[in-house]
Parts: sequence; structure tokens; C-alpha cells
Amino acid sequence: MASSLLSPLSLIIAFSLIAAVAAAAASSDGDPLIRQVVAPDEDDLALNAEHHFKGFLSQFKKSYADEAEHAYRFSVFKSNLRRAKRHQKLDPSAVHGITQFSDLTPSEFRRQYLGLRRLSLPADAHQAPILPTNDLPTEFDWRDRGAVTGVKDQGSCGSCWSFSTTGALEGANFLATGKLVSLSEQQLVDCDHVCDPEQPGSCDSGCNGGLMTSALEYTLKAGGLMREEDYPYTGTDRGACKFNKSKIAASVANFSVVSLDEDQIAANLVKNGPLAIGINAVFMQTYIGGVSCPYICGRHLDHGVLLVGYGSAGFAPIRFKEKPYWIIKNSWGEKWGENGYYKICKGRNICGVDSMVSTVGAAIKTNKE
Ligand SMILES: *[C@@H]1O[C@H](CO)[C@@H](O)[C@H](O)[C@H]1NC(C)=O
Ligand SMILES: *[C@@H]1O[C@H](CO)[C@@H](O)[C@H](O)[C@H]1NC(C)=O
Repeated sequence: MASSLLSPLSLIIAFSLIAAVAAAAASSDGDPLIRQVVAPDEDDLALNAEHHFKGFLSQFKKSYADEAEHAYRFSVFKSNLRRAKRHQKLDPSAVHGITQFSDLTPSEFRRQYLGLRRLSLPADAHQAPILPTNDLPTEFDWRDRGAVTGVKDQGSCGSCWSFSTTGALEGANFLATGKLVSLSEQQLVDCDHVCDPEQPGSCDSGCNGGLMTSALEYTLKAGGLMREEDYPYTGTDRGACKFNKSKIAASVANFSVVSLDEDQIAANLVKNGPLAIGINAVFMQTYIGGVSCPYICGRHLDHGVLLVGYGSAGFAPIRFKEKPYWIIKNSWGEKWGENGYYKICKGRNICGVDSMVSTVGAAIKTNKE
């Protein structure tokens, strides 16, 4: 009886929530609907924005060329505070707030810190075989097994795809050889110009974006990747290719694309090592920590990252009791997110996390020298 009495009220709550979420999701920054959603806190925000901005400038050691730039960045910062608030409402199991990206507009953020091109499959990508899933561990983390290098930083260069690729090959190489070797993103940035066979002109192009599957194709054809220390990251794509074949540290034997099934993704992760995945990064600009599980998130993939594990019950908001999550290594330095990592809920293809997954097998090097 009690529950049927409650239901009209919960319907109303559900409806207002859906309306607010839909309005927020359908709109971009500065939309009047959004201002209404956050209206009660607007004054409070204005009062504190200056204080927050000061803290932001000193925390992230930011400085601007002149007064005009400073004023412009402050206005962008304020709009990002509102966005972080909106993200917090849409994504209550994570913490959103001020990050090192809080003075960038969403399009600056996309251009400078993401860099994933449209999905296409190079000739040598296979469909991963279907694996058994009945004996999967409830929790798994390749970091505990020594297959993951430290968090790296792509800087303001849309080279995420190269970090996702090296991460996957570092893991596969570890599984094949027992040694964890940090591999060169700069080699991919400088030397990999593999193009989409179906879309002429859509090629891996340094800081302007690329694709992990194309990068694996390049690595397969080139013979492998050099060590990070032998070909260090510069964060620019204006240098010539300095690849030296005699210094290859890890090679790709084969690679495959994993099906859209999350159990298959988990099974491939456990069997083959960390996976290169694409994700929609819109909530990552304001992410501070926790398990991100937004009510609505686009499935358009714009960021390449590395899936390294999963947890079983890390968060318990009211709507998803104790639900599992994926553990994702990002390439924005250790100061971003949870020591450079991102957690996102598992099981609903949130932010497209299940839609573009590639796995790689490393060749065991026959060491001649
Ligand atoms: C490539 O590396 C080898 C081995 O370290 C070295 O002897 C050779 O000079 C290098 N080649 C170039 C072009 O740098
Ligand atoms: C690579 O090939 C081997 C042998 O055919 C296969 O067992 C393995 O699953 C493949 N790995 C990937 C990542 O495609």
C-alpha cells in the first residue's frame, strides 16, 4: 500500500529529474535553460568565483599575457564552474569541480587535450575471438600485476591516441616478456601517418589526432616501438621521424577489435592485458574523482585511453547500488583525476566506453645482439 501511495510523488520527482537532465544534455554552454537549472546558486557562485580563480591560478601556476587575456580566462573559468555544477548534478557518484582545464572552453579542451579520430578498421585488425567469461574474477587490476607504466602527460597536443596505443603494447609486451618497458609516443606522433583506407585524408596526424587501431597497424608494419627514453616525448609534431629500427623495444604480433559486450571486454582485458579504448571525454574536463556514471553522456568517442582493470563495488549512489566500474589510465599527468586515473561505471556503455576497444598481442623478441 505504502509504495503505491508513494508512486505519484516519485513519478513527479522522476519527471522533473528527466526534464532537467534532458534540458542540460540538449543544451550547450550559456543556454538560458541551464541558467534556470542552476539559478538558486548563481549569486553564491558569483561571490566565490574570484576566490576560486585565485586558488586555481596558484594551484596550477597559470599566468596570462595581459589584462585582457586574464579577464577572458576568468569569464571562461566562471562558465566552467557552472559546467562543473551541472556535471555534478548529472553525475552524482563522481566529484566534479576545478581542474587544470578550468580556463579552457570546451572546444579548446577538445582540440588540445583529446585527439581521437573517427573509428575505422585497418586491414590487419581482426575481430577478437569470443572468450569464456564464466571464471572472470570479480575485481581485476593490471597495475597490481606490474603491467602498467606510470601516468604520462600528453601536454597540449591531441596525441591521446599514441598514449593509449603505447599503454596497450606496454602491457602486451609485459605479458610476453615479463618486462615492463615504457614505449615511445613520440615515434607514433612523428612517424605514424597511417590513413583510413575508406576515408582518404583521414590519417594519424600527430597533435591533430589519430586512432589506436591505425597506430597498431603502423607499429606492426614498422617493426615495433622504441623505448620512451630512446625517443622521448616532446609534445609537438613539428619534428622529423627519428625512428631507428635497430632500437625497437617491443613489437606487435597481431591485434584485434573486441566485441561490444562488456563481459568480452573484461575477458580480453584479463587474458591479453590492458586495452586501448575510446571514450567520450566531456565529463573528464571537470572530473576530480569517484566513479563517473552520468545520467546522459554522448557515445561520440573523442578520447583514447587505456583500460587497466575493473572493480566490483566501489560506489553506491541510490540509483545504482554497489555497481561495478572500469579503471582507466589517462594521459593528462598524475595531478588530474585520481592520480591520473578515471573510474567510470561498468555495464551501460556509459560515454561510449564499450564501443571501441582494441587489444594487442606483443611479439616476443628474438634477441640477436
Ligand atoms: C641506430 O641505432 C644504432 C644502435 O644504437 C646506432 O649504431 C646507429 O648509429 C643508429 N642509427 C642512426 C641513423 O641514428
Ligand atoms: C594473436 O594471435 C594468436 C594466435 O592466433 C591468438 O591466440 C591471439 O588471441 C591473438 N591476439 C590478439 C590480440 O589478437
